[in-house]
Amino acid sequence: MKLAIVGLQWGDEGKGKVVDYLARDFDYDVRFQGGSNAGHTVQYQGKKYIFHLIPCGLLNKNVIGVIGTGCVFDPAVFVGELGDLKTYDPDVEKRIKISKFAHLIMPYHVLLDKIREETTQGIGTTKRGIGNAYEDKYGRVGIRVGDLYYPEQFKEKLKANISRKNVILMEIYHAEPLSETEIYEQYMEYAEKLRPMIADETTILAGAVGKNIIFEGAQGSLLDIDFGTYPFVTSSHTIAGSVSIGCGLPSVCVEKVYGITKAYTTRVGLGPFPTENEDAMGKNLRDVGKEYGATTGRPRRCGPFDVEVVKYAARLSGVTEIVLTKFDVLGSLKTILVSIGYKNADGFDPFLASRLEPVYKEVPGFMTDISHIRKFVDLPAQAKDYVHLVEEYTNLKVKYISVGPDRDAMIKV
Ligand code: IMP
Repeated sequence: MKLAIVGLQWGDEGKGKVVDYLARDFDYDVRFQGGSNAGHTVQYQGKKYIFHLIPCGLLNKNVIGVIGTGCVFDPAVFVGELGDLKTYDPDVEKRIKISKFAHLIMPYHVLLDKIREETTQGIGTTKRGIGNAYEDKYGRVGIRVGDLYYPEQFKEKLKANISRKNVILMEIYHAEPLSETEIYEQYMEYAEKLRPMIADETTILAGAVGKNIIFEGAQGSLLDIDFGTYPFVTSSHTIAGSVSIGCGLPSVCVEKVYGITKAYTTRVGLGPFPTENEDAMGKNLRDVGKEYGATTGRPRRCGPFDVEVVKYAARLSGVTEIVLTKFDVLGSLKTILVSIGYKNADGFDPFLASRLEPVYKEVPGFMTDISHIRKFVDLPAQAKDYVHLVEEYTNLKVKYISVGPDRDAMIKV
């Protein structure tokens, strides 16, 4: 089976938990876009693991994790994350492949992202240098992971980049210039540490005939560079169409796509969010759902489930089955609002996103802790009704329901 996992909202849908849960049946877990802006939280055996860059299926020791070509790769973050993961599996390095085609995030990307966010209006990025690294990639001046192993070539590219970036840093932002030598030495050290993991993932995956591959999307469909709420988006394609170019497999490689959606909606960073709720409901969701960014710690904006957003995202990725996450969080609400459409539009349209007026349906809450429940039949009637309502309005089948952060807190419907 070749299965893609994509988020149907603005990220943080719980893709990490779903990948960790499903990965026991897979041989490979491939990240195909994004970088250390991702914040996938996985709780296993009472311990919380936060993955930013490393594929989070790796807690399953049968899995080989691949960081694909479509990703932007920050070696500093990777080395730190690897250290944490080694406390779980000292041999985890043997199960990680990093694409030599992936672009490197350099210190100037991170610095410029921070400065731009702090000195201009900004869009509320994670300040991880993601957009800046993709800018260089598409501007054809980026440096790739594979360049690390040709030191002269790496040095030349670094020199050209540093001279341009230092002009921007000094002339526009009146900041200190960066040292080419320091960065060179630092990256040569990383190169040695990373050497056993560097690969051409396209040949590995092409040879994985008959193997099960899970493609782990990061961020969410509404953060897609083209189809999201531009310009308040990330700099990569977050929809399932991105899998193929993100790891070099033919476009027919994906057999199935699961869409992951919270039972409500959240967004972190700036930009339109039609069902944002700043009243008691939104506050309750934030408190009970512990809605704070895994990468930045920022409080997430919260609101009701938006049927049209999920339908829009599902269409873009060919999703027919969804995983409904954080369902237990709704257990503290007396009544639950669901947006079933808009007064002023037929469906979700990113160009209208800041002006859309949701039409709400109010349904009774289930007012009980459902986090221990593992079978759909055991859910309270109002909870079952909510799931059926989501299915009816989105025209999508709910395949799994997550009722808590632990791996086994999952209901197969
Ligand atoms: P960037 O990806 O850091 O450039 O940030 C661009 C936008 O995407 C900002 O609104 C971020 O908050 C958002 N974003 C990036 N990564 C994630 C994520 O993993 N979850 C949720 N939002 C994200």
